[in-house]
Amino acid sequence: MQKLEMLYEGKAKKVFKTEDPNRYVVVYKDDATAFNGEKKGTIEDKGIVNNKMSALLFKLLEEKGVPNHFESLLSDREMLVKAVKILPLEVIVRNVAAGSLAKRLGLEEGVEMKTTVLEFCYKNDALGDPMINDYHIEAMELATKEQLEEIKRYAFQVNEVLKEFFIQKGLKLIDFKLEFGLYQGKVILADEISPDTCRLWDAKTNKKMDKDRFRRDLGEVEETYQEVLARLEK
Ligand code: C5P
Repeated sequence: MQKLEMLYEGKAKKVFKTEDPNRYVVVYKDDATAFNGEKKGTIEDKGIVNNKMSALLFKLLEEKGVPNHFESLLSDREMLVKAVKILPLEVIVRNVAAGSLAKRLGLEEGVEMKTTVLEFCYKNDALGDPMINDYHIEAMELATKEQLEEIKRYAFQVNEVLKEFFIQKGLKLIDFKLEFGLYQGKVILADEISPDTCRLWDAKTNKKMDKDRFRRDLGEVEETYQEVLARLEK
């Protein structure tokens, strides 16, 4: 599918229109940012890992009944997706305390939580993606009540599918971020699912196998991204 005008360039991806108004092409870049763009760098071949890993997980999720934007892989760094209108929400699912939650609530990283925690952030770089709740979402008309209920249901379903899949590959799913969009009037899962958007720890050693290696200068960044993909493809 021919790429036409670029619609959007984000920190890690570019999105292009195609001759089909219902399809976009997503190109995954190697650029990496953290702390709302304060830290910048590149992770060699991250774009390839994130494209292939997202494709693999979107296919799995579709089979398990979670509709999503993935259509097909076009190349190492490109996928064809449904032309969704992204809702300005970051949907964060947490199984184990880590990252900003651990910091905010004074919990030790690695503490298993009694139940899954769901958080929402308003996708707005200028504001630093502030955390919001159901009331803000409704009041600001970021999604309708019905759409929000659907998003919550899908978010928990994604968590169950991915937790089970990752553990078979020797990876613990600590937390992750999802984005949803509207396509033909329905809510579907969009964006990406990759080591950029998930925290994954080795099931035996608890070694961090995700973007925290870049965020926290832990080394072996490229190797770890490759290792995650290799495990998932096995
Ligand atoms: O930083 P924090 O602990 O809130 O991140 C929770 C999860 O959401 C992590 O897996 C992180 O990779 C992901 N996330 C993301 N994009 C953001 C913020 C968080 O993918 N803008």
